[in-house]
Amino acid sequence: MAIKSTKLELILSDGKNYDIRIGSGVLNGLCETLGSLQSVSKDSLLVIISDSNVAPFYASNLRLALEAGGYKTALITIAAGEQSKDIKVATEIWNALAAKGANRRSTILALGGGVVGDLAGFVASTWMRGINVVHVPTSLLAMVDSSVGGKTGIDLPAGKNLVGSFHQPIHVLCDIDLLKTLPHNQWQCGFAEIAKSAIIDSLDFFHWLQANCASLVAHEPQVVREVVARSLAFKGRVVVRDERESGIRECLNYGHTFGHALEKVTGFSAISHGQAVAEGIRFAARLAIEAIGSSEKFANEQDDLLLALGLERLGLNQLGNSLSDKQVGAVSGAVTGAVTGAVTDTVSGAVSGTVSGTKDCVGADFAANFKDNNAANSVRNIGADDLFNAMLSDKKNFGGSLRFVLANEPGNWQTVAVDADLVKIYLLYWEQAQHTLAC
Ligand SMILES: NC(=O)c1ccc[n+]([C@@H]2O[C@H](COP(=O)([O-])OP(=O)(O)OC[C@H]3O[C@@H](n4cnc5c(N)ncnc54)[C@H](O)[C@@H]3O)[C@@H](O)[C@H]2O)c1
Repeated sequence: MAIKSTKLELILSDGKNYDIRIGSGVLNGLCETLGSLQSVSKDSLLVIISDSNVAPFYASNLRLALEAGGYKTALITIAAGEQSKDIKVATEIWNALAAKGANRRSTILALGGGVVGDLAGFVASTWMRGINVVHVPTSLLAMVDSSVGGKTGIDLPAGKNLVGSFHQPIHVLCDIDLLKTLPHNQWQCGFAEIAKSAIIDSLDFFHWLQANCASLVAHEPQVVREVVARSLAFKGRVVVRDERESGIRECLNYGHTFGHALEKVTGFSAISHGQAVAEGIRFAARLAIEAIGSSEKFANEQDDLLLALGLERLGLNQLGNSLSDKQVGAVSGAVTGAVTGAVTDTVSGAVSGTVSGTKDCVGADFAANFKDNNAANSVRNIGADDLFNAMLSDKKNFGGSLRFVLANEPGNWQTVAVDADLVKIYLLYWEQAQHTLAC
């Protein structure tokens, strides 16, 4: 059965707009698409930036097709991996652009995952004070998330994405056929972001994903196309309302406060971004029970969804409920403050209590529910303090409070400053689960 393609249009606040095309084989229509974009000139260079994994699969054919369509092309290939989001690599690309004769009318075509997209977008936003960028994402994460929205960035030793800009693409083309060469673990990174989007977006997306998990995990093309379209439609709706992340765009960080901290304390290599985000979603789902009165049922549904997508638990599971009952219950009433509105409410108040005494029961239940794997091994010795400090140093937390996006049902979320002591209780619980498992 032929896969239909989907076209989405993003209309930005300054009146500019760009199309997102999603489908199977849509890359074949790239010349035609570029021809319809007035700002792309056949007289100037079209520079493809790709990485050492992706370029060998797709760059030659793409260049041949573009040259046949009358475009002058050049290819710049960077080493695959997050380490390329570095000022040295950006400088190498700027030098290569100069050597190849790129000018103000040149266009950069980012052919790769989120690393290529962020770096190529950054270079495009700075080369001669800004030139066009077209995104052709090749990883699931880039297709469902990073290719749309205009965030670009490079990393510093002090943290990821600390230097960057907002630079919207002029077109995004998601050809799901390119995912045929994507390694299994990279699919999972995309699945975590999809789960995030479905939870934050709506009951409709959440239920659709619950019903289509198995087909998605089996990479069924029709379902892959639809999930990319649903995820980008959601992201597009958020981005057009808040292009520069001064308000509702924060919702895209659901699961990321804990997830980033976990990635940081494990050195950004021991566990994948997807595993970290999945664990962050579980953490937020448990925290939401206490902090905003979300239900245990909803936390379990999120856990089940992640499991159905193959994202195993590393720590928190349904035992979070035990903690909620036995420990946090002892301090209930200490979490005070109005929780109204959608973006900046605060849950505050002194929360005391420890998780001592729960170790055995936590460990037994935890072990029974746990499927061991390398990722789990690598988080076993992580302490609550390490995670807490990593959260505090996150650039999205300021003023000493810890901000979380929390949800009490699909599509109903809020950003909440959660009292540090309550966060610590949950972190201690998480730590204890790891230590017990290791015994
Ligand atoms: N700009 C944004 O809004 C935004 C949002 C989320 C994440 N990000 C950024 O995205 C990056 C992560 O993106 P990612 O997960 O795509 O990582 P990535 O770009 O490193 O790609 C993951 C791996 O898959 C390989 N790969 C990609 N497509 C392939 C294909 N079709 N076939 C074979 N191999 C392929 C890559 O070479 C790489 O080894 C991070 O740097 C993160 O900060 C940005």
